[in-house]
Amino acid sequence: MSRFIVKGLSGRKKLSGEIPVRGAKNAVLKAFAASLLFKKGMEISNAPVIEDVLKMTDILRSSGANVTRSGERSYFVSVSGSLNTVIEPKIAKLLRSSIVLTGPMLAREGRVSFPHPGGCVIGARPIDVFFDSYRRMGAKISEKDGMYVIECDRLKGADIFFRVPSVTGTETVMMAAVLAKGVTRIFNAACEPEVQSLADFLKKSGADIKGEGTHEITVKGGKLLNTGKFVTPPDRIEAGSLAVLGAVLGKKIRVTDCDPSHMRAVLHAFESAGIPFLAGKSFVEVKSPKVIRNFDIKTGEYPGFPTDLQAPFAVLLTQAVGQSKIFETIFEGRLGYLNDLSRMGAGVVICDQHRAIIDGPSSLRGRDVESPDLRAGLAFLAAAMVAEGDSVIRNAGFIDRGYEKIEDRLNKVGAEIKRADD
Ligand code: EPZ
Repeated sequence: MSRFIVKGLSGRKKLSGEIPVRGAKNAVLKAFAASLLFKKGMEISNAPVIEDVLKMTDILRSSGANVTRSGERSYFVSVSGSLNTVIEPKIAKLLRSSIVLTGPMLAREGRVSFPHPGGCVIGARPIDVFFDSYRRMGAKISEKDGMYVIECDRLKGADIFFRVPSVTGTETVMMAAVLAKGVTRIFNAACEPEVQSLADFLKKSGADIKGEGTHEITVKGGKLLNTGKFVTPPDRIEAGSLAVLGAVLGKKIRVTDCDPSHMRAVLHAFESAGIPFLAGKSFVEVKSPKVIRNFDIKTGEYPGFPTDLQAPFAVLLTQAVGQSKIFETIFEGRLGYLNDLSRMGAGVVICDQHRAIIDGPSSLRGRDVESPDLRAGLAFLAAAMVAEGDSVIRNAGFIDRGYEKIEDRLNKVGAEIKRADD
């Protein structure tokens, strides 16, 4: 895997210019999975050029789907004949989103086998919501050679209460319900924009879905959908990650091609921190102020503060004057990166698996660190740019999973980041 060598800007607020936001990783990966619900195939456009998209296309191909890349950001995916219902374990272990394939695969083929999904190590990430839902829809679940095997000739609609409003759980069960016999109602569903963009797309393609964006989604099952075109919405997590770079180091940074209406929690945090910003229809412009005010972050399901921005925002808190608290309510293993920030000089106390305190402002020193996951990796990039002296950030591949050519886009606005192969 490669590594980033980052020149510290010693807190100089010198980043300036425009950074375009790419298509949303956590939306497009589910659109690829949805392709199994179609008879004639479907188009995807504005896909980000990131590792996870390439891995998802590999999994689809290994299942027998035809995937053609018609452009840098566009694909056509179709299925002719029956699929290989074993989700490729080697790739699936790298990608949490691989589990989303199980819904459409089970609904279309009546069977799916898959390993416990991989992805970012940010907690146990159980999949009980998926199993509970499949059982209620009539499926039989067993384990064979380290794989889960789920079978059901025809899923039937059911009333399903989610123990937790799981994002991929909502997307997966919603897609399975599109081909089930009868009506499925999901209670305590997730409301994330990515769930909404998937539902909008499926409805435009003929599915009967109501309630997306609320905690109760109703799906009337039917036959395979004909065809459709998914336009990947902008990545609100990437937009927030880039905006926080502007908040901590920006002379003036304009994050473009984004949707500020999905970033209200981020903009509210900027208001609390005294970060001057301008939000237009499809951009957010940010400047870093002389004094950054301390503020508390409590992550939560949408529209609350996104857990995926907790680490990038922690870097802003290290530069804020006073004490700030972080309460990570979604994952129990998502504060470990703070140990590395503390090695860089940040004033950090990790209270327990969910809570930390940051005392600022602190001057950071460049360090050799290892990204544990893509969002902490982005946070390390931000911290390294704030720091005095150079840093090496290993496992750059984790950052490449979700941020397209990030060093090119940041260097264009004044960062000094080089990529080197290990
Ligand atoms: C999605 O993960 C995103 N990933 C995550 O982004 C994001 O952090 C997360 O939603 C929360 O917003 C994708 O969409 C591919 P959850 P997901 O199921 O669906 C627990 C990134 O960096 N849970 O909503 O896996 C779970 O452990 C990634 O892009 C169960 O207990 O998250 C967690 O505590 C990281 N049982 C909480 O629910 C289950 O069956 C929320 O998880 C499922 C989840």
